[in-house]
Amino acid sequence: MATLGDSLTINGMRLRNRIVLPPLTTNYGGPEGEVTEAILRFYRERARHVGLVIVEATAVRPDGRIVPGSLGLWEDGQIEGMSRLAASIRGAGAASVVQISHAGARCLPAGGEMQGASPSGFAFGPDITPITMSLAQISAMVSEFAVAAARAADAGFDGMEIHGAHFYLISQFLSPLTNKRDDRYGGEAEGRATFAVEVVRAVRERVGKGYPILFRINAVERVEGGQSVEDALGVSRILAGEGVDALDVSLVPMASWREVDGKRFLAPQSAFSEDEPAGAGVPLAAGIREAAGIPVIAVGKLGQGPVAARSIENSQVDMIAIGRQMIADPDCAGKILGGKNHEVVPCEECMTCFATIRAGKPMACKVNRDLPGGSGSSS
Ligand SMILES: Cc1cc2nc3c(=O)[nH]c(=O)nc-3n(C[C@H](O)[C@H](O)[C@H](O)COP(=O)(O)O)c2cc1C
Repeated sequence: MATLGDSLTINGMRLRNRIVLPPLTTNYGGPEGEVTEAILRFYRERARHVGLVIVEATAVRPDGRIVPGSLGLWEDGQIEGMSRLAASIRGAGAASVVQISHAGARCLPAGGEMQGASPSGFAFGPDITPITMSLAQISAMVSEFAVAAARAADAGFDGMEIHGAHFYLISQFLSPLTNKRDDRYGGEAEGRATFAVEVVRAVRERVGKGYPILFRINAVERVEGGQSVEDALGVSRILAGEGVDALDVSLVPMASWREVDGKRFLAPQSAFSEDEPAGAGVPLAAGIREAAGIPVIAVGKLGQGPVAARSIENSQVDMIAIGRQMIADPDCAGKILGGKNHEVVPCEECMTCFATIRAGKPMACKVNRDLPGGSGSSS
């Protein structure tokens, strides 16, 4: 029987235990996507006990940023800062992975040729007019993912993760809600996965066989017309067949529509609401593991109580990720591993973390005031 404290090796990358810090956009990066002291500190403090740190969504192009302080790997000059980050995570004993991403039509309105890149012109807000990508633009974007991945490897990260979740660019291709193309990049789930597959292949070609590639996927999109569980299972099988080493299984647990000037825009969430039980994502991740036959990470309110440990012990999933609870209490993984669950300073699920970054401010937390964004209450 595996336990949370057991090590695990993914394509040569050794994790000292099964707890993962999932990607968390902090908005602590510099204006040119650079690593700052605040970034180094945030990750250093949270790398102390976990097995794996997945660094937040890092843009493959400047027009793919989610927030003004998103990290970047769009030019060679960014490698030096990222290598300091990777070294600092490794120095704390955790394996280091960086999530590479393009926000597509959910990007920051900061300009750029691929601002608003999207499969079929689905808009997420009034500020960004989506572009329906041409075949040449798709092909160029695939290359940009691959070049950014090579920079991640050059920076010394132990592996990389492709962001295919939460309605950012790759996820927009995967979802039937946002992909209405009638060429080979659209259609049924398999066709919609073409862009993701091309990115995985191009990345693999650049980084080589022995470099771990993780892929973050939505197990389901709980919005009318969104990706179904069945589609996600099919895509997971395809990705495993393409040599993805592990799947980081997230979801869109809810989404609302907001109206601006008579137009409706989708506002998807990436975290469970307060009324969902801890571990509601575990069965979804377990299903994907069974379908794809490769290691999976489960996520969703796993930072308190025994659900995380049980999920590993019952062999449902291979790793568990703790997001908001690790923002609120950076030592939470150490406390859980040490059998001191009662000492974890609870996350109040107030969503201040999300609210601050969405407002373009440094991430703040009501519980943990020792963050660059403070408690967020002055906002
Ligand atoms: C402030 C914040 C920023 C996030 N940024 C990212 C991100 O950059 N990439 C990503 O894949 N998920 C991101 N997520 C989603 C988390 O990785 C995680 O899946 C989610 O918080 C659910 O886990 P939890 O219930 O343990 O918080 C973010 C979540 C929060 C709270």
